[in-house]
Amino acid sequence: MPSDHHERDFPSFAALRAEALACTRCPLAACRTQVVFGAGDEHADLMFVGEGPGADEDRTGEPFVGRAGKLLTSLIEDIGLTRSDVYIANVVKCRPPGNRDPHPIEIDSCRPYLEAQIGFIQPKVLVTLGNFATKLLLDTKVGITKLRGQSHPFRDGAVVIPVLHPSAVLRNGGAALAQARADFVAIRRALANVS
Ligand code: URA
Repeated sequence: MPSDHHERDFPSFAALRAEALACTRCPLAACRTQVVFGAGDEHADLMFVGEGPGADEDRTGEPFVGRAGKLLTSLIEDIGLTRSDVYIANVVKCRPPGNRDPHPIEIDSCRPYLEAQIGFIQPKVLVTLGNFATKLLLDTKVGITKLRGQSHPFRDGAVVIPVLHPSAVLRNGGAALAQARADFVAIRRALANVS
């Protein structure tokens, strides 16, 4: 995994947050209502990384609070945790207009914030939700359907577990939901192994 130690670019997690909240590094800054930095326990063993804020997140400033967020919350609760036990962030921290896919320049501009969040939090299990987070953090072109539900080595002994994005689960229904539940069982097992 390249680009280690971005947390050294920021004196503290609070400073990182403050800089991200005022960011104008990419064109998404011009169309956002607000930056969705991330939420949860800054010392969590388990961190989730989604794609980018949607309309509900852009309005509230919180990640995963819309329909996909409700599904994510229930999958987290199904493995005996709450949202406040984990940390939730996104690849891009500002909403792409009309929920389009984030562009490479937007992902590259925002990457130092995500890398620094990971550097400060030092999660033991990093769950990538969908293709964008998976491809970025595993530095791969392999798609989520091949990688999901398995532990992939990350830096400092941590693992990445890719899972289906909750929006894809909502779109695809029953079989996808069963796969997502199986992926969360893998998350619970990986957590039990590290703590
Ligand atoms: N989808 C994402 O990828 N992130 C959010 O925060 C909300 C929906």
